[in-house]
Amino acid sequence: MTLWGGRFAEGPDDALWRFTVDRADRRLLLDDVRGSLAHAQMLGEAGLLDAAEAAAVREGLQAVLAEAEAGEFQFTEGDEDVHSAVERRLGELIGETAGKLHTGRSRNDQVALDLRLYLRRAADRQAERLADFIRAAADKAEEAGETVVAGYTHLQQGQAVPLAHHLLAYAWMAVRDRERFLEARARIDVSPLGAGALGGSGLPLDPARTARLLDMGAAFDNSMDAVAGRDFAAEYGFACAQALVHLSRLAEECVLWASSEFGWVTFPDSLTTGSSALPHKKNPDIAELTRARSAGAIGYATALLSLQKGLPLAYNRDLQEDKRLVMAADDLLAGALPAMTALLAGAEFHPPRPDSWVTALDLAEALVERGVPFREAHRAVGRLVAALLDGGRDLSQAEPSDLTAAHPDFRESDLARTDPSASPARRPAPGAASPDSVRGQLKTLRDLGF
Ligand code: ARG
Repeated sequence: MTLWGGRFAEGPDDALWRFTVDRADRRLLLDDVRGSLAHAQMLGEAGLLDAAEAAAVREGLQAVLAEAEAGEFQFTEGDEDVHSAVERRLGELIGETAGKLHTGRSRNDQVALDLRLYLRRAADRQAERLADFIRAAADKAEEAGETVVAGYTHLQQGQAVPLAHHLLAYAWMAVRDRERFLEARARIDVSPLGAGALGGSGLPLDPARTARLLDMGAAFDNSMDAVAGRDFAAEYGFACAQALVHLSRLAEECVLWASSEFGWVTFPDSLTTGSSALPHKKNPDIAELTRARSAGAIGYATALLSLQKGLPLAYNRDLQEDKRLVMAADDLLAGALPAMTALLAGAEFHPPRPDSWVTALDLAEALVERGVPFREAHRAVGRLVAALLDGGRDLSQAEPSDLTAAHPDFRESDLARTDPSASPARRPAPGAASPDSVRGQLKTLRDLGF
């Protein structure tokens, strides 16, 4: 039975039913019942249900909640959505009084509430998973000690950096991803209950009371915005997509680093897969699938925006689709985060020494320290690089005479600057790729509780 049969001469066609009925919203079951419990309590306190009715409805809902929590709640083919299912079940348990639960409420404010409750919890879970990832990145950075690697721009070796600094770059991305979930959570945490279909109700409802009962930060300010607004879902979808896009960058690096060309890292057997055809292979599938799943999350985030585009106020059935999209984005991140955390924690790094060329800037800065304009110093080192390349040598093979031929202000002691492993320590500025900076970053992260 539908919740709206009164004005219809005939029941819904099979084609309509199959096309319009939502099953994705079954995941809102617990939130739907919890929202209804708060609504029923408010109705009782406002005198809209008498004491016996309020008690009957609440007891019935508690029984439904117990069924839901035990995984025993049964949906039927006739349930149009989760709200209909709960009301049907309540009717089976307490009879006609169940019909009073929907007083002062519409499924429009109800579904917005349910999704907000669902995402509030989901945001907390993602924040926890991100904290685990940040901790794993910080631990791995600590383990890397003073190991120096090539830092890249344009995928060309650029400067020598501590491996720890490179790994911590991902920790900081995840710190912001986590903040994004917690900030989105604050906007999610607003109760739309009381907005009704779109314009509120003539009954003496108390939206602030239901918000408090649900431990939400506030009640809505505008009933039409409350039922039509889905920016909270799109924002959540974006938070998932951005976090996955960050993971996809690490994933791509893991794939590269594990190649024999790079040879930076070995992943444990337990976190890699084999090839059915090529017996020697060990494939970084976790990283590849994470890279791929970021594509899905981008799609869902885009769809959540497109869903709202040009949609007239207030509620439209289009909005039913938001749940599937945002839950799918959430699921993708929920799957990828623990897998990438495990992969990072299991990584055994053994990177090769960077090329000596990564110290070219160090040499130019030796001249700058003596008052040579940077442009002139850049040209001088460029000449040195060209001359060495001509002779089939690299910077580690440069002689004092090569330096002075490139610029008269070079000193013999500058040759010491061509050691990549000593390069990072020469960068004193906060945040730069130096061992001191790494220590500072680790301290900041640990102080933040990671
Ligand atoms: N299943 C619907 C949704 O998810 C619930 C709201 C339906 N409202 C309505 N007026 N048909 O959006």
